[in-house]
Amino acid sequence: MDLPKTFKLERYFAQYEFDNTKKLLCCSDAESFDLKTLLSLGSSEDVEKWNNLKLCYTDSQGSLELRTEISKLQDINPENILVCVPAEGIFIALTCLAKELKGKKAIVCWPCYQSLIEVLESNGVTTDKWLARYSSEKGWYFDMNELRGLIKDNVGLVVVNFPHNPTSFLPSTDEFNELIKLCKENDIYLFSDEMYRMTERSIPHLSSACSVYDKAISLSGLSKSFGLPGLRVGWLCCQNDEILGKFKGLKDYLTICSSSPTEALGVIALKNRDALTTTIQLIIKKNLSLVSALAVKYQELIEWHEPKAGTTGFMKLREKLLKGRTATDVCAELVDKFNIVLLPAKTYQYEDKYVRFGFARKDMEILLTDFDNFLSQYAN
Ligand SMILES: Cc1ncc(COP(=O)(O)O)c(C=O)c1O
Repeated sequence: MDLPKTFKLERYFAQYEFDNTKKLLCCSDAESFDLKTLLSLGSSEDVEKWNNLKLCYTDSQGSLELRTEISKLQDINPENILVCVPAEGIFIALTCLAKELKGKKAIVCWPCYQSLIEVLESNGVTTDKWLARYSSEKGWYFDMNELRGLIKDNVGLVVVNFPHNPTSFLPSTDEFNELIKLCKENDIYLFSDEMYRMTERSIPHLSSACSVYDKAISLSGLSKSFGLPGLRVGWLCCQNDEILGKFKGLKDYLTICSSSPTEALGVIALKNRDALTTTIQLIIKKNLSLVSALAVKYQELIEWHEPKAGTTGFMKLREKLLKGRTATDVCAELVDKFNIVLLPAKTYQYEDKYVRFGFARKDMEILLTDFDNFLSQYAN
């Protein structure tokens, strides 16, 4: 295995994320809850447990109590779950799956969170990209016919991430069923990154892939839709004991087990998941109406399609704003003049005409005023 290449998005954020003078308008994590709020949701029994918590090692698979709460969300048995840090989950699963492929290719949705492709490639796996398509009328979408065309005998794995980072594309139930059917018919592993599940604006949510297909592995966690990225709680779910066993074996060389405070707080979060996700949905709803109004005001400069799920959108910058420059250049000017940070498509190694826009933080209204002032310089 080669070392993975530099994680472009993480390095870009590292320049700004903890600099108090910078204002982030491109975060994928929602407004974070504080400890006091989370504990206030817990039952007296859970809070008592928290107060008396021993800071000892924990069950390396994740405590049964935590896995039981996760199982309700993923519709899978607690024994089919491995608790991990979300980013670690990608590394564990794709490193193990790379060995299962035995020379076969992987198809990866594109653009993507870099580790979804990089871990495979650094393990010597050849990848084909299932490209997100954009049209000014429809916005972003993934075409199932294109996926069907990419699936050949030499494909052993499909990697998807729905709701999708950065576009927030969400397949319809029919499209999702078609994806599962294609993988089943061709006996292909499916790695389904579901980190943004529960941000769907309409209910019912799509099923978790692991609950409907025995060769599907789902990854999810509390970082995005639950507003708890600092907890570092995630999980891998898979019906196949042999594969899950391999994941557990690799985790023994990484974090071994979760921290006990993380597990205790994770249980409280999952027991109160509706309160957390509803609060975030309300922030998103308010913010989306503000972004839509701005997009109408500056339609000659930007193109915006309101996503049906997720916490980010991939906004197209029009030539009148680009003026022959890249999105990276525009973002640099925005940071320079207004301290506002947007994420250019280059960090996804994608055509540099788009920026990732995050809409799940409370300070968005204030930040949009600055973005409005920036755009007004280019308007007629
Ligand atoms: C699609 C996707 N998967 C996994 C992760 C990793 O989550 P975490 O940063 O909480 O480890 C992210 C984070 O941005 C993500 O966007």
